[in-house]
Amino acid sequence: MERDSSAGTRLRVLVTRRLPGGVLDPLTRSFEVDQFAKPDDMTPDELARRVRGAAGLVCVVTDRVDRQILDAGEDLQVVANIAVGYDNIDVAYAETRGVVVSNTPNVLTESVAELTWGLILSVTRRLAEGDRLVRAGAWTRWSIDFMLGTELAGKRLGIVGPGRIGTAVANRATAFGMEVVGAVGVDRGEAEDSDRRKFPHQLVSLDELLVTSDVVSLHVPLTDATHHFIDRRRLARMKRSAYLINTSRGAVIDEAALAWALHERLIAGAALDVYEHEPKVHPDLRTLDSAVLVPHLGSGTRETRKAMVQVAVSNVVAVLSGQPPLTPVRV
Ligand code: GLV
Repeated sequence: MERDSSAGTRLRVLVTRRLPGGVLDPLTRSFEVDQFAKPDDMTPDELARRVRGAAGLVCVVTDRVDRQILDAGEDLQVVANIAVGYDNIDVAYAETRGVVVSNTPNVLTESVAELTWGLILSVTRRLAEGDRLVRAGAWTRWSIDFMLGTELAGKRLGIVGPGRIGTAVANRATAFGMEVVGAVGVDRGEAEDSDRRKFPHQLVSLDELLVTSDVVSLHVPLTDATHHFIDRRRLARMKRSAYLINTSRGAVIDEAALAWALHERLIAGAALDVYEHEPKVHPDLRTLDSAVLVPHLGSGTRETRKAMVQVAVSNVVAVLSGQPPLTPVRV
């Protein structure tokens, strides 16, 4: 339970980030908030030092909340990640220590789906490449066969991971006249069963999706089972004319294998928002015009980021007030 503030024993919550004004008010009203004020990431040492004695931790995807941090934070009751993904947190270990982990699903579904479509259009119509060309002063004239792209109408979109975001991406496909199929990535039991039931489009096997889709979009969480899920073998199953889109987590794709596939023209292009070793990007990908590369912007709208912080804050307030979390993560 939240302790009496007048006694000077308010629970402390560590926030690893500067956040927009006002969003932390529900926390500051009831708890002592220790907010990291610098624009960069906390080092693991600083995080370990400041998490000591904290009852709550509000963190982001670039904060690695591993055993060392969870051990240092022996008073922790809740870790609220400002993200839907939670591969930066050792959730299984947190569970053994009785620490609740929460994420921010739902509020970012639309923004990630919108960015995914931005990437689909950008790579199929060569928008980033065209922008570079114009800026470089290299555009000399209009011509009939100049920078031709691929039309989406009548083509097949394959959604790998037909959950909330995958479904939101799929639902927008009708606006472009695309046919949609979905396939589960790695079977995650019940969660995947419920996704399957709610996906309002045709479900096929993963292999059929890879072999028949013109655009393949990845929407699976990063787990041990999905690490390098898209490898040389699966890339080789795709059509030579197909495009691969990733707004999930970088390490779901073997980046070196993707660079190879693009270089060998085994697929037509790729558009990525996420990378295996962010902010580093495989050097070969950076040289390929067939790759559209953006810097992890999936949930990056003002509306969504604010809503994500609000959800994280509400989770901390709930748990530290003895209530169940709104959006807990379970492994
Ligand atoms: C962002 O990458 C998220 O998981 O929300």
